[in-house]
Amino acid sequence: MRVFAIDTSCDETSAAIVDGRRVLSSVIYSQALLHEKWGGVMPSVAKRAHSERIDSVVERAFRKAKLAFGDVDAVAVTQGPGLAIALEVGIAKAKELSAFWGKPLVSVNHMEGHIYSNFVQNSKGNPPREFVFPYLVLLVSGGHTELVLFRDHLDYEVIGRTVDDAAGEALDKASKMLGFSYPGGPVIERLAEEAGNTDEYRFPRPLANRDTLNFSYSGLKTAFLYKLRELDDTARAKAMRSLASSYQEAVFATLVSRTRLAVKKTGVANILLGGGVSVNRRLRVLFRRAAAEQGWTVQFPPFKYLNFDNAAMIGVMGCYKAERGLFADPAAIDRKPRMSLPAFITMPSDMKIMKQRDL
Ligand code: KG4
Ligand code: ZN
Repeated sequence: MRVFAIDTSCDETSAAIVDGRRVLSSVIYSQALLHEKWGGVMPSVAKRAHSERIDSVVERAFRKAKLAFGDVDAVAVTQGPGLAIALEVGIAKAKELSAFWGKPLVSVNHMEGHIYSNFVQNSKGNPPREFVFPYLVLLVSGGHTELVLFRDHLDYEVIGRTVDDAAGEALDKASKMLGFSYPGGPVIERLAEEAGNTDEYRFPRPLANRDTLNFSYSGLKTAFLYKLRELDDTARAKAMRSLASSYQEAVFATLVSRTRLAVKKTGVANILLGGGVSVNRRLRVLFRRAAAEQGWTVQFPPFKYLNFDNAAMIGVMGCYKAERGLFADPAAIDRKPRMSLPAFITMPSDMKIMKQRDL
């Protein structure tokens, strides 16, 4: 099944065409430079940039795939979570194209997309990875930190989540405190690498000794701020790499320890990572090490489908829904900035609202 997909959930305007898991084209226009000076994503700037770029991104997706405009079986779009006024640009375009082409609409939860990014393939079908259910998924992005039990296609259960900041957000804030730009994850990663990924400052590991699968990063962020305040400008500049490295170690230690507890509680040791933070090299080393020690399997999305939010992962996820006839009602679909897993789906045959699992 050939699916055309759009994602405008945050600061990337993206469109893709997939055939099952194979990506025929993927076009991403990143707005990162537009938001850099604000130290975060400015919703009004994002909306304008999405509106200005969406048509050319859509056109380029068809040109790159060498397909005639509209030559697809369905249109998938991210319904949420994300920035409301950014999401609505993509949803409006998807509705317009689905009506114009007479193709059904599929609603995708952006976080479902991040899970499926692990199974995105290039046009030749690589990497060949097969699904081996069940999985334990650790989603780490700018807005989410979640542990998800992924039992089968379209069967998810969130078993742990952050009670305050997301891991990516914690890294973004630390970068900002050090005077660097958005997004902060890559900045902290580079500083930490320059420091040799050391853990000189040993910041607190929130909730580490509690029997919970939840995460908390606000205490860590405060500890980091206080440490910075203790130092004058010279001392701070000197310690910057080491501070960034210790902070990153604290953020990641919690991700590993919660995952270890989740494996113990669920008995599921096939681990998938997803979301922008999972591109981090140090995080990959830590998870590979834990996997070797604990006997887990661990899988990360291919780099190409990670560096930025992308519509290819939305298209691949959308394909699994389209194949099952799980289409959205165009009259009812609206942005859902706080959409959580799993999604609500409208069945086309009887127009009944089907809720998969109430979390
Ligand atoms: O998944 P994503 O692109 O967007 C959301 O859906 O939120 O994730 C963005 C987050 C940001 O917080 C960014 O700082 C973080 O991913 N990130 C990284 C790296 N690259 C992006 N975090 C750690 N290391 C990186 N190399
Ligand atoms: Zn994302």
